Amino acid sequence: MLGRDIYETRCVLCHGPAGEGNGRMSKIIKSPPPYNLTLSRLPKAYLIDIVTKGGEAMQRSGQMPPWGDQLNEQEINQVVSYVMSLRK
Ligand code: HEC
Repeated sequence: MLGRDIYETRCVLCHGPAGEGNGRMSKIIKSPPPYNLTLSRLPKAYLIDIVTKGGEAMQRSGQMPPWGDQLNEQEINQVVSYVMSLRK
């Protein structure tokens, strides 16, 4: 599966269609809200970690779910590359 397809199935509800953190779930997840991924400047290795292990394991919000049990390494790599392509 392409990174974009994974993003649109699993991430869009929180992070929004263009990654701006304005998905539908942002109406109820507010402190902190889903990250505006267009403003992310963290290195790829960190993004892979937080997507795999979830926010809580990274001392961030537990509202960012872990995906390591649902997506394999290659899929996580693809979705992270896609997310990085949304940066402004
Ligand atoms: C249920 C809502 C939700 C879903 C679904 C979700 N996220 Fe998140 N995500 C969050 C929240 C909330 C944060 C902010 C965590 C914090 O700042 O403590 C976050 C943070 C992040 C970050 C950190 C960005 C940075 O630079 O600090 C990345 C990367 C990320 N999410 C990627 C993804 C990807 C990829 C998916 C889909 C596989 C996804 N998220 C699905 C809620 C969600």
